[in-house]
Amino acid sequence: MPFVKKITFSVVFCAFLSHAVFAQDVKQISILVDKPTVKVSPNMWGIFFEDINFSADGGLYAELVKNRSFEFLKPLMGWKEVKGEGGSGNILIINRGKENENNPRFGRVKVKSASGYYGLENEGFRGMGIEKGKTYNFSVLARKGEGATKIKIHLLSADGKVISDEATLQGFTAQWAKYSVSLTATATEAKAHFAVLFEGAGVLDVDMLSLFPKDTWKGRTNGLRSDLAQLLADLKPGFVRFPGGCIVEGRDLANRYQWKKTVGKVEDRELIINRWNTEFAYRSAPDYFQSYGLGFFEYFQLAEDIGAEPLPILNCGMACQYNTSEVAPLDQLNPFIQDALDLVEFANGPVTTKWGKLRAAMGHPKPFNLKMMGVGNEQWDVQYLDRYKLFAKALNAKYPELKLVTSSGPSPSGDKFDYLQKELREQKANFLDEHYYQSPDWFMQNASRYDNYDRKSSKIFAGEYAAHIKEPKGAKESEAMNAWVSALAEAAFMTGLERNADVVQMASYAPLLAHVEAWQWRPDLIWFDNLRSVATPNYYVQKLFANNKGTDVVPALMDGKILAGKDSLYSSAVIDKKSGQLLVKLVNTSAKEMPVKLNLGDLVLVTSNGSWTELTSANSLDINTLDEPKKIYPVTKDINTFHKTTVPVVLKARSVNVISLAYSMLEPLKTNSNGENKPVKP
Ligand code: AHR
Repeated sequence: MPFVKKITFSVVFCAFLSHAVFAQDVKQISILVDKPTVKVSPNMWGIFFEDINFSADGGLYAELVKNRSFEFLKPLMGWKEVKGEGGSGNILIINRGKENENNPRFGRVKVKSASGYYGLENEGFRGMGIEKGKTYNFSVLARKGEGATKIKIHLLSADGKVISDEATLQGFTAQWAKYSVSLTATATEAKAHFAVLFEGAGVLDVDMLSLFPKDTWKGRTNGLRSDLAQLLADLKPGFVRFPGGCIVEGRDLANRYQWKKTVGKVEDRELIINRWNTEFAYRSAPDYFQSYGLGFFEYFQLAEDIGAEPLPILNCGMACQYNTSEVAPLDQLNPFIQDALDLVEFANGPVTTKWGKLRAAMGHPKPFNLKMMGVGNEQWDVQYLDRYKLFAKALNAKYPELKLVTSSGPSPSGDKFDYLQKELREQKANFLDEHYYQSPDWFMQNASRYDNYDRKSSKIFAGEYAAHIKEPKGAKESEAMNAWVSALAEAAFMTGLERNADVVQMASYAPLLAHVEAWQWRPDLIWFDNLRSVATPNYYVQKLFANNKGTDVVPALMDGKILAGKDSLYSSAVIDKKSGQLLVKLVNTSAKEMPVKLNLGDLVLVTSNGSWTELTSANSLDINTLDEPKKIYPVTKDINTFHKTTVPVVLKARSVNVISLAYSMLEPLKTNSNGENKPVKP
């Protein structure tokens, strides 16, 4: 064969071969847009909030002062006494006992010297995050004794330099009253301290020494840290589950979460030790308490602000079964049940009722529209069933429209799980709360977990889940456990939740927030320090699903079968009947890129170019960190789909993809004059 011919032959042959290989390898996925199967619940993808990892005090709750009312076990924890310029004085912690049972302690400050100052410096929660040019609002409850003592305040950098203007409060009276003043920061500092200095010989009683940034979420007093609340809002969650988690149960019953202690005036909310203070010896946090400044009213308000349904979880007369396993006797369960009934009144009741009146007094006369409630957190065994039945009886009788969420135990299979699933289905429970903290492999293998669930029985609330990896060797950052591989596996699994949206009607990743220096549990959805926050890859997976949730599921099939792991491919698809969009999720968990072709069928008319959002990273252990927050970040590009019936895309190795198209359906088949069946264009 002459040389030229030989080359031509090789080129043609190779081209043919590569085309043949490519053609053979393209995965054909049929999206049956005209055959919607089930509805997607509007509150399908939600968030789980628990005060763990300094999520509330020191986190979402924007208060900067730690131990503001001296109620920690050590009354001066977080505070340091200071004096200068020849000043002297002391502080005496006085316990009012019965006179003020919820907030018994206050500080009696005695300034002994006519000149100079005596004062207190607060260290914040691992420091205070202060931003240059921003305003900070200080308030204090104070009562004057003898003499004429004033308060001067300013902010300090970690190395003790003054980083704000100085503000003064004076003219205190002999009755307790609240005094406020503002400061402006002159520098940005992640580890600032706050100085409260007393000048002028005399005695001043002080309590609730509080410092908030003026710029809280939606500018509310007693508000939330803006960047963190914004990240939650950006998820567009369908519900907010609060306040946990094990914190609902408490290590013992005395330490359980009681919502009534978290509402009303902030200074009347009784602080308790946070159960995560002592839970893990290797991550002990002796300064972890619940001030309840972020309480049930604020949770309801947050849910409303971000357009989510509130989902409170209440203690059912059982403490954590991993700790004490204490239970309230069945004949003494009434106070617990009454708390649940009263919560519905607090959320929804007219302002003429006792609890509705309190809601109105707190600034929200309109109801919060509570529609569901969890009875117990991660409980198991017959003691749970017995208590649940009494709760259900009382709640169903008074509020038949209220949906109840019940526990399925702490794990997604096994005796505890099987027992509760069977018994609670017999009880016609509304939602069974399943929890899974499992390996990435488990998540991928369970992508079809719900394809065969009973469709006519209780619904599922995937109330806590996260893929847990082994700690990578040499990992320095706290965020290391939120490696890309975990997010990828969760995405694969979530296609199965979405496909089965008639069974799984709510789902939430857990936990939500964690302070990089003060965490107890990893992985978490969002990490933060005092100034910055970082959304993990897992967050972006949640966001892709929640922001593209659609209204109806449509089949996504390969060779006529659902795609739940074949060739490392996972897919689910929804349409949004309101916006006329098709939203296809495609997850490629393999280390190779994967050409796929979406076949939309002849009845779909794609009316615009579409968009393709990719979330991917080169290495399984890649992470987002506070210093590099967008290493793994969704990228959206336009794709040419106008009037196309097929959409070819090459999925990157280890990638999560959302294809979004506007479409309309063609009219049903009609026979044309040639006797052919053709879809008719509108
Ligand atoms: O999300 C962390 C903990 O995991 C929750 O508090 C508990 O419900 C589960 O065991």
